[in-house]
Amino acid sequence: MKNTQLDSEKILIVYLSRTKNTKAVAEMIQQEVGGDLVELELVNPYPEDYRAIVAQVARENETGFLPLLKTKVDLSKYDSIFLGFPTWGMQLPPPIKSFLRENDLDGKTVIPFNTHAGTSR
Ligand SMILES: Cc1cc2nc3c(=O)[nH]c(=O)nc-3n(C[C@H](O)[C@H](O)[C@H](O)COP(=O)(O)O)c2cc1C
Repeated sequence: MKNTQLDSEKILIVYLSRTKNTKAVAEMIQQEVGGDLVELELVNPYPEDYRAIVAQVARENETGFLPLLKTKVDLSKYDSIFLGFPTWGMQLPPPIKSFLRENDLDGKTVIPFNTHAGTSR
């Protein structure tokens, strides 16, 4: 793909990934458009155990809890933000909600991308 629209110097690809599916897509995007690749990490990582993380995320979604992000990004040098995330509990993962709360995306071109296991929304 020839990139005529985006200035690769000003592209950020930021993503959340637990089992590396979203990471793989993020890397494909970077190969196509360039830019900086940043993985979102948490101050307190989620449990490895699948059932434990599903239960914790369900609680966080119910209460509106926003986990603290270890990763801080200065968005001022970027025009375009690719934002990648898996579906968790049929919605945005809480860390992505934290990212959106913490960062002002006003005036940026935001290109979301998503991986999921097959539920229809
Ligand atoms: C806590 C949790 C909740 C999930 N909820 C959903 C869901 O509601 N629908 C779905 O299709 N996949 C769901 N998945 C599966 C992931 O979206 C899917 O495996 C995704 O590709 C994982 O991306 P990753 O490898 O980048 O972490 C869930 C996974 C986790 C860990």
